[in-house]
Amino acid sequence: MDESIICTLFENMPRQGPGSAACTKKMFFSVPELPEHPAILDTGCGSGMQTIDLARLSPGARITAVDVHAPFLVDLRTRADAAGVAARIHPVQATMDMLPFPAGSFDLLWAEGSIFIMGVERGIAAWKKFIRPGGYLAFTEAVWFTAAPSAEVKRFWQEVYPDIKDVRDTQTIAEKAGYTWITSFPLPASAWWDDYYNPLLTRLPALEEKYRTHPEAQAILAGIRREIGLYREHSSEYGYQFILLKNGE
Ligand SMILES: C[S@@+](CC[C@H](N)C(=O)[O-])C[C@H]1O[C@@H](n2cnc3c(N)ncnc32)[C@H](O)[C@@H]1O
Repeated sequence: MDESIICTLFENMPRQGPGSAACTKKMFFSVPELPEHPAILDTGCGSGMQTIDLARLSPGARITAVDVHAPFLVDLRTRADAAGVAARIHPVQATMDMLPFPAGSFDLLWAEGSIFIMGVERGIAAWKKFIRPGGYLAFTEAVWFTAAPSAEVKRFWQEVYPDIKDVRDTQTIAEKAGYTWITSFPLPASAWWDDYYNPLLTRLPALEEKYRTHPEAQAILAGIRREIGLYREHSSEYGYQFILLKNGE
């Protein structure tokens, strides 16, 4: 995949995946208990909309924000400065499947729109050791909302993320990995449109013009239009679930 087009597409966006400040807040206040100065790890933070929200929601928190793509971390630093929370956010360029932290470092591990990169089963198993016993893992993940998705939707997910499951199967995986299921809720459609698909739609025409003679870029842009069109037509069939787990019982 052409890195430069992907970067141009997603840099300087409010966020790089579905989500919203309201959902981050709702999930943060669903965490049953945290110390006054929690250590939080935000994995696949992107340019950090949710990182900054977490810093505001938890004034005593120290947040480590990990992403593999350096320009997102630069953007996060600028935004955190503007929000007055930069002193409590520590950006780290690293890959989420080899996190450079000692075991049990975090009270809360946060992952909005990023666990799919490892797959939910691998992700929750690999991250467990970084969460102290009794700590929490909050993440969003693609799920089926229907047992009988339409053929077009099924084909799309088979191509992009065959790992997609329903909420119950995700719960079974989490419990087998030694977590306790605390709560979950689906992201509303506004969390897909307001800060993600609508800003993408705004920038697509200029990119389509810029990359008119670049077949690989055209294919990527067409794929994004297809994804957005599919969500517009079929959002009752799939979506993102925000899930909260406790490490242990
Ligand atoms: C869909 S975006 C979500 C970003 C942000 N959490 C949000 O909700 O706006 C996924 C993020 O994961 C990052 N990423 C991709 N592969 C990664 C890896 N192996 N390790 C860490 N981050 C990764 C991408 O650079 C991107 O910022």
